[in-house]
Amino acid sequence: MASLGSFMSVLNFLLFLFVGLISSSEAAIKKYQFDIQVKNVSRLCHAKPIVTVNGRFPGPTIYAREGDQVFVNVTNHAQYNMSIHWHGLKQYRNGWADGPAYITQCPIQTGNSYTYEFNVTGQRGTLWWHAHIFWLRATVYGAIVIMPKLGTPFPFPQPAREFEIVLGEWWNNDVEEIEKQGNKLGLPPNMSDAHTINGKPGPLFPCSEKHTFAMEVEQGKTYLMRIVNAALNDELFFAIAGHNMTVVEVDAVYTKPFTTQAILIAPGQTTNVLVHANQVAGRYFVATKAFMDAPIQVDNKTATAILQYKDIPNTVQPILPQLPASNDTGFALSYNKKLRSLNSAKYPANVPLKVDRNLFYTIGLGKNSCPTCLNGTRFLASINNVSFVMPQIALLQAHYFNIKGVFRADFPDRPPTPFNYTGAPLTANLASLTDTRVNKIAFNSTVELVLQDTNLLTVESHPFHLHGYNFFVVGTGIGNFDPAKDPAKYNLVDPIERNTIGVPTGGWTAIRFQADNPGVWFMHCHLELHTGWGLKTAFLVENGPNQGQSVLPPPKDLPSC
Ligand code: C2O
Repeated sequence: MASLGSFMSVLNFLLFLFVGLISSSEAAIKKYQFDIQVKNVSRLCHAKPIVTVNGRFPGPTIYAREGDQVFVNVTNHAQYNMSIHWHGLKQYRNGWADGPAYITQCPIQTGNSYTYEFNVTGQRGTLWWHAHIFWLRATVYGAIVIMPKLGTPFPFPQPAREFEIVLGEWWNNDVEEIEKQGNKLGLPPNMSDAHTINGKPGPLFPCSEKHTFAMEVEQGKTYLMRIVNAALNDELFFAIAGHNMTVVEVDAVYTKPFTTQAILIAPGQTTNVLVHANQVAGRYFVATKAFMDAPIQVDNKTATAILQYKDIPNTVQPILPQLPASNDTGFALSYNKKLRSLNSAKYPANVPLKVDRNLFYTIGLGKNSCPTCLNGTRFLASINNVSFVMPQIALLQAHYFNIKGVFRADFPDRPPTPFNYTGAPLTANLASLTDTRVNKIAFNSTVELVLQDTNLLTVESHPFHLHGYNFFVVGTGIGNFDPAKDPAKYNLVDPIERNTIGVPTGGWTAIRFQADNPGVWFMHCHLELHTGWGLKTAFLVENGPNQGQSVLPPPKDLPSC
């Protein structure tokens, strides 16, 4: 017996060592310091102070591996209150690290710090981070790169190297002033003056020769480009002259690979593509410009970067790629149709097949009376006729500490009165209820949410983002959603899984998710203009009955209001 006992303890010891080795090689701690500081930056011959992280624009990339624990200590040296959102990270039970100001935390005040602490679990690919208060994300953003676990390869050919490509928008004037001005007048603020690629508009703009992002490639090699749309208000096309792209991942979820000349990427989305440097050695423009298929003005200028083969001199003139026409609805619809989850044995698409809660949300623009505004009215936007009003203290705090009077939990499951959502433009009854309302969802229930664009004032494409979850995009269509016919056409096998989806102009999109992450999770249009107008709400997902199914306790240094 003694010998068996000692054999067991040796075995246990070996097992302990083995587990220790695995966890030490697999889960690491990654620590970052983010100093929010104002810095003078010049673009398009205009210099201005901008808010940055560590003086960098775009800000630093967060590198982690699936399974890692990440600490980001944010210290605010700027005159603006600040919060940072880790866009697309699921933050299981851990809304305290999610970041939207007044939803999961109060902002970090000038001179203060807050440490965001989170685990990267069950996700790998490209995500991004950005300021989540007013329009400060115009300059406060950066990429998040999540590598697969050590020893786990990509489900596609290993690239020779990777490039991060973060698309943005630049205004010559102070962005916070522009936003304030728009609010005061009740009108949309000025459009951006340029789009940017890694903060740079490229050589087609004045004073921009030195503000051009370039990537050097070698003939015959394959490269992974991690593309992020960090623009405030514009959906973007992106293409490389002479080169096709193979889409392999979106929003940190692997896709069935497909090849395309151009990609479409909405604010909030990420797309990873493989590019094979298989053309005549030369210099090729990489270009991005806005997609807009509604009668609305956008910044229609093209930003460029350069794909440069090794040893080719800078004197060679690059050629421009063919981008789809700005209003090419057909391209948008067929591109989005090609996006499918990889749905392999290792990366299955666990689509909820039965639905516990059916929600139908209409997206509407409108006008409320505003005596001090330019036209006596102010633009606003609503979901099911509710235009969301930001609370004074964070919803998650109010929920966790049971503070009454901060929000109502009776956000309507459908619009107050059905109408022909996408018929002739509606200009009557544009007034909306303004309130802080969320929808309560039972833990672990499966939710189907149909987002229906409307022609209140105008139709428009709206990229909707849900915090705390990925969802499956099971169906989409143009016109009004038909509950009798459309569900039969859903893709419940390999629909794309993501965190942000463009609801098509004058159409609808159906998404499904399982509400297994308790907390208060923001959902909003990722066009900052519309978010500011109230096109946002939240889900309050209740705690589960068992241990490990409740919102975690808040960190000690959580900012107070
Ligand atoms: Cu990328 Cu609530 O945002």
